[in-house]
Amino acid sequence: MAGLSRGAPDKITIKVRGDGTPLGDTQSEVEHQEAKAREEEEARAALGRSSNEELFERARRVLPGGVNSPVRAMRQVGLDPVFIESAEGAEVIDRDGRRYLDWVGSWGPMILGHTDPEVLAAIEKAAARGTSFGAATEAEVELGEEVASRMPSVEMIRMTSSGTEAAMTAARLARAATGREVLVKFAGAYHGHSDGLLAEAGSGVATHGIPSGPGIPAAQAAGTVVVPWNDRQALAEALDRHEVAAVFAEPVAANMGVVPPEDGYLEHLRAATSAAGALLVFDEVITGFRVARGGAQELYGVAPDLTVMGKIIGGGLPAAAVGGPRELMEKLAPSGDVYQAGTLSGNPLAVAAGLTTLRRLDDDAYARLAALTDRLVRGLEDLAGEHGLSVGSAPGLATLFFSARPVRDFEDAKATDRERHAAFYRAMLERGIWLPPSQFEAWFVSLAHDEIQIDRTLMAAAEALAATDPGRAIG
Ligand SMILES: Cc1ncc(COP(=O)(O)O)c(C=O)c1O
Repeated sequence: MAGLSRGAPDKITIKVRGDGTPLGDTQSEVEHQEAKAREEEEARAALGRSSNEELFERARRVLPGGVNSPVRAMRQVGLDPVFIESAEGAEVIDRDGRRYLDWVGSWGPMILGHTDPEVLAAIEKAAARGTSFGAATEAEVELGEEVASRMPSVEMIRMTSSGTEAAMTAARLARAATGREVLVKFAGAYHGHSDGLLAEAGSGVATHGIPSGPGIPAAQAAGTVVVPWNDRQALAEALDRHEVAAVFAEPVAANMGVVPPEDGYLEHLRAATSAAGALLVFDEVITGFRVARGGAQELYGVAPDLTVMGKIIGGGLPAAAVGGPRELMEKLAPSGDVYQAGTLSGNPLAVAAGLTTLRRLDDDAYARLAALTDRLVRGLEDLAGEHGLSVGSAPGLATLFFSARPVRDFEDAKATDRERHAAFYRAMLERGIWLPPSQFEAWFVSLAHDEIQIDRTLMAAAEALAATDPGRAIG
């Protein structure tokens, strides 16, 4: 890959706004970090090799595109993937020793930050007792109890290893419960990569501009109806025309960038699905245990029939779940006849990490996460105002959209200026800020972030925007 240069070639005077906190601390912290980065760069230069480039060459021989999940490739921002060696708190450290301030957080699970000592200790303790038994454990019961105490609509859960599987299970349950087949989803939403739910998906599908058809049986594609997010009329027509088993929604859309529901939209979804005899499935893989203690269903006060969970529930290890009322959940085998299973479902290490993470997420933690998000979002909004951009956000989540018009659905998200986003991304990476390499993803705020890091990010963003704004390029 093109060597990433460090330092700030386009330095300008930054006026970080927001709550008016003086910038003295931030400025000296930035200078300290830059000096450290220069030293590290010199040490790397002395070694005379770029191990990231070498590794990518090797990776491409054995992994398609050099990666194990498309969103990790940085093609869409004109770069090759950066290989990560380790992480700590709110930072990731690459193969060449560069440190980046991390706003990806492994795409959501790392809400406590990386290498949290309590989570690591819980994983070690669990591992010492055995890494997998393929049998029931007490900790799974505790995790079920913890989730049920948080999510108003959930009495029981069934664990899986990934959000994709949990969403598949929700679809099967909804079809079994209603005796209907059609699923409705929203354009730009992502519910994992299963056949029936990939149509017009956001996330990596949108990022890479990949058609959702190849490899998907026509019958599966025909069983899914896609409607625009935040559109009441289109949803009403879909529910009218088809015998719908379930409407799948990310209650805050976060895979086309962050696009919250308009006022009353979730209530409308609830009423319209109930009237049509369809189930409402909230995919809270991103929003769950992030936007509030009980997820978006608590934040907005709207109860779905089924909830898909992932990411935070595994505390950084592979775990996910589908949850709902006893009446629906007991349709799953062995209580009922809807089959679903998994060798590593409820894996003891993942359950230990998830349970430890959830128990740390109390009211104080959510107040702190909301305050941090607010500081970041207010700063981004000021910059957006100066540069003709817009911001979408929810507690713990934000996206800077390269479009002056607020984004309310996938069409708006697709109308953003992707080239400008890519230039901004590269300028941020050069300044040591690790963002999702796509316009269609969220920045994830964690409890390991602090005010100085947020101000550092805003200062870098001010520089990066000034350097890449086509109307106002400097330097
Ligand atoms: C809302 C949502 N649902 C489902 C998934 C799929 O989860 P997984 O990647 O664990 O299969 C994701 C992944 O990003 C997601 O964001």
